[in-house]
Amino acid sequence: MKQAIDLALKAQYQTDPNPVVGAVLVDRKGSILSVGFHRKAGAPHAEVEALGHYHNVPDGSILFVTLEPCNFFGRTPPCTELILKKQVKQVVIGCRDPNPKVSGNGIERLKSAGVKIVEGVLETECRNLNRVFNKHITSLMPFVTVKAAISIDGKTAMASGESQWITGEEARKAGHRLRSSHQAIAVGSKTLIRDNPELTDRVSETPRQPQRVVFSSSGDFPMDSHFVNQVSTQRFLITGNSINPHIARTLEQKGILILVGTGVRPEIQWAMKTLYREGICSLLVEGGAELTASFIKEKMVDQFYLFVAGKIIGSSKAPSWSGETGISKLKEVPRLNFDRLEKLGEDLLIVAYPKH
Ligand SMILES: NC(=O)c1ccc[n+]([C@@H]2O[C@H](COP(=O)([O-])OP(=O)(O)OC[C@H]3O[C@@H](n4cnc5c(N)ncnc54)[C@H](OP(=O)(O)O)[C@@H]3O)[C@@H](O)[C@H]2O)c1
Repeated sequence: MKQAIDLALKAQYQTDPNPVVGAVLVDRKGSILSVGFHRKAGAPHAEVEALGHYHNVPDGSILFVTLEPCNFFGRTPPCTELILKKQVKQVVIGCRDPNPKVSGNGIERLKSAGVKIVEGVLETECRNLNRVFNKHITSLMPFVTVKAAISIDGKTAMASGESQWITGEEARKAGHRLRSSHQAIAVGSKTLIRDNPELTDRVSETPRQPQRVVFSSSGDFPMDSHFVNQVSTQRFLITGNSINPHIARTLEQKGILILVGTGVRPEIQWAMKTLYREGICSLLVEGGAELTASFIKEKMVDQFYLFVAGKIIGSSKAPSWSGETGISKLKEVPRLNFDRLEKLGEDLLIVAYPKH
């Protein structure tokens, strides 16, 4: 199963909206006969790659697969039927598929045809391969990561606004790579106006440049900004119902897709559902604090990436990364599980998940 996990990881961030999956076929002595992984949406599933060249698999062989085999016709036929056709008598499964179309049905189909099933081998590792898929397939909203580069006292800038750079080069490079691991990046209008960010990955060898999303009720921001003029990836303006039609038309003419909510200020949950319908499965929120606070308040964050510098800014007037959530009681504050701590040059990376 460890090998199947490593195979699955070969296609990390390349299979959206599908999960990554790895499969290994072993003979009765445990020697590997063949392997496979799902490379991208529409390509063969991992089981097809591993079993494809057999008419019937050798007697006693066992298929290890990180995710429950599918049992419905999508872009490809059901893997359960292929497993039965190839006479596989035992399947070891990492975790169940949370997709409501599968979710135990694949296992039931195989069991009812007499296949021996072993479930839950390296289950947590297998489930964690697909945090993005697990979220979007069950909620119909993108997986959301909040990223911030902060001082040890949680500040994103000096009181004067000076912010370049709080963290060092390695952390900044990791921040760029994080962009390639998400389908889209979002910022609030004030960040767009003050920083004019490019929102691109400028360090990976083969970057997957993210689509770009700006939250702004008015759409009133500089026409010479990178967001308006760099047309390389899809751009979305998430806005409210009082946007000036002239501004909306001008931005539309620049190729920006305008998504208009029902209130004056776009509401986060609506925005997530709408972006998902536009095909966005994962979103990186890069600030500022006001937008981040809205995501936290609405419990819309699935993962936090905090790059922490060993610097104390030490001013109550300096902005903090998480903004004003308006939560006033300690027992109501959002709590996080720390998942990973890494040293990046002189800085730390903290990866954390909300406690539900
Ligand atoms: N160090 C870092 O990692 C980092 C990262 C990013 C930004 N920054 C800094 O942060 C500063 C800007 O941050 P900020 O907190 O002032 O503003 P922000 O979060 O960038 O933008 C907030 C604005 O977004 C618009 N918005 C639309 N829908 C919203 C919603 N549902 N919830 C919240 N906002 C929504 C609102 O403007 P409308 O009323 O026009 O809709 C709101 O005023 C900049 O100085 C930037 O340099 C630092």
